[in-house]
Order: sequence, then C-alpha cells, then structure tokens
Amino acid sequence: MTVNYKNLGFVNTQEMFKKAFAEGYAVPAYNFNNMEQLQAIVNGCGQSNSPVILQVSSGARKYADQTLLRYLAEGAVAMARKAGYQNPIALHLDHGDSLELCISCIESGFSSVMIDGSHLNYDENVALTAKVVEYAHRFDVSVEGELGVLAGIEDDVVAAKSIYTDPDQVEDFVRRTGVDSLAISIGTSHGAYKFKPEQCTRNPQGILVPPPLRFDILDEIEKRIPGFAIVLHGSSSVLPKYVATINQNGGKLEAAVGIPAEQLRQAAKSAVCKINIDSDGRLVMTAMIRKTFTEKPQEFDPRKYLGPARDELTKMIIDKNRTVLGSADRY
Ligand code: G3H
Ligand code: 13P
Ligand code: ZN
Repeated sequence: MTVNYKNLGFVNTQEMFKKAFAEGYAVPAYNFNNMEQLQAIVNGCGQSNSPVILQVSSGARKYADQTLLRYLAEGAVAMARKAGYQNPIALHLDHGDSLELCISCIESGFSSVMIDGSHLNYDENVALTAKVVEYAHRFDVSVEGELGVLAGIEDDVVAAKSIYTDPDQVEDFVRRTGVDSLAISIGTSHGAYKFKPEQCTRNPQGILVPPPLRFDILDEIEKRIPGFAIVLHGSSSVLPKYVATINQNGGKLEAAVGIPAEQLRQAAKSAVCKINIDSDGRLVMTAMIRKTFTEKPQEFDPRKYLGPARDELTKMIIDKNRTVLGSADRY
C-alpha cells in the first residue's frame, strides 16, 4: 500500500518550480539526517516564508532508520503548521540509484524522487530514468534526473573529475524520460573541497577564489529546453566564517572552498529552480559544537551543544533563503 503524500501535508515540486521559474528564484533543498537539522530547516524556511524541499539521501535513511526519518518528516510538517507557517514542503529522495529505492520512498510517502543515472551510459540513464518516471507519475510524485557528472561523492559513488552536461543531449533526455526537472553539471561538486587550491586564485584577504561556474553551458541548456526546471547540486558556499570557527576550535579543514554566493544568486535568477545544500549545514553544526566544547569543556548534556548548533543553522538557512536563493517571503 502506497501512502498518499498529500495526506501527510507534503506537495510535489511541480507548482514550486513553476512559481520559482516565473519569479526568478530557486527553491532550497536542504539535506537532513537528524532531528536538529530538520527542526532548523523547517523553522528557518517557515520563518523566512520560503518553500522548502526536505532532502533525504540513502545514507541518511541508513543512518537514522528509514522509518524513523519518514515519521520525523511527517512530524515536522505538523510542527510547521502548528507554528502557523503556510509554506509548501516537499519530501524528496536525493541521489536515488535504483528503481527499487525510488519505489520504497514513494510507497512510504515521499512527494518527489531523484533517480541519478549520471554514472551510467546515456541510453542506460534514459532507460532507468524513464522507468522511474513511469512509476512515480502514477502517484503524482515528481522526478528529478541527472545528466553530466559532478566531481566528489554522490552517495556511494565517487567521481574524480566532473563531466559537464552536454547541451546537445538535454532535449532528447527530457523528452524520452518525461522527467520533471534536470540536474546538470556546470562546475559545482559535492562536499567542502570543491576545487583544488591550484585551480583557484587568492583575493587580497588571502581567501581562495574558485573558477567561475560555466554559465555559458547553462545558457545553452536553457535555449534547448526553454522553461524547464534546472537543478544545481553541490551548491554549498563553504562559508569561511564557519570553516574558521572549526579550525580555531581544534578542527583541521584545510583549503575548503565552495561556490561563491553571487554565482548562486545569478543561477537562482535563471532557469535554476532548485539548489541543493548539505555541506553548509554540516559545517555550521560542527563549528558550533566545537565552539561549545572549547568554551564549556564541562558540558555533557547533548541539548547544550546540539541546541546552539540548531539555532545557528536556523539563522544560516534564513540568511541563505533571503540573500542567496531569493526564496524568502514568497507565500
Ligand atoms: O549529495 C550528497 C549529499 O550531500 C548527501 O550526502 O550521502 O553523505 O548523506 P550523504
Ligand atoms: P553540497 O555538498 O555542496 O552541500 O551539495 C549537496 C548536494 O548536492 C546534495 O544532493
Ligand atoms: Zn547532490
């Protein structure tokens, strides 16, 4: 029996993307693995009146237990409505790698799934993605596909080099698969080390400045599939202030570098309707927990270090929605 996500208070991504496209902003997709991250995401997006996609990887399902995680998400919607937030909330599988995983999520009440066939050859990617779409659309669940490979870790798959999306393939891929949105590769990558120092220059403050995203490829893709929702993965900015707090409090993150906020802002105004953020949330929590442990070494109540981490993450999310994605105050 498939649980109807609409009865849980979730929406699929269709209307979200239509509005984001028309108004020139991007919907944030924040990953979560635990209660504190989920509270911060739902409160941050509720308080800033932003649509939100709650994003769950297969690693998150393994870590937190898939049943518990799904009930946490259901509870988060109830919490949001009780607080009076009216923003739409989607529950999305991040980097699904098989039809079976997508079916399992759809059966349990997800409103959107990603099937990531980007590591397969083109025809295999088309065939797998089309199968997922055929199944998901029976339940009005949205599907995100991917063309092109991002460097870094995509769940259990590690790609050493990115392969930019080929604009010549996108129209055929979208038509043959029936996907609702398309993740592309234009220079972003997963994790906190998106660029090697030798690929970067340094600004006067000594901060590493990465090479710009390939907006020329994005433009070309937009021309081939006008009006179609594009997704950017690997879009954390790796905010220097949190990296510095981590390093000042016993951490060792060297040469961490992300996507500059101005470039994400530019992307959000284009056909990019969804921007994925996981690493920035991880960095905020780690920074605050390390800081608490330095300042209060006697502390051992998890609420006393997870609480400040959750509060700072809420603030970071509100700021990102307002100043980077442009998704705040839309409902
Ligand atoms: O794209 C990858 C996401 O950041 C999820 O990461 O597989 O470690 O949960 P994860
Ligand atoms: P970051 O590692 O840049 O946060 O990317 C997350 C992501 O793309 C999840 O799918
Ligand atoms: Zn991703």
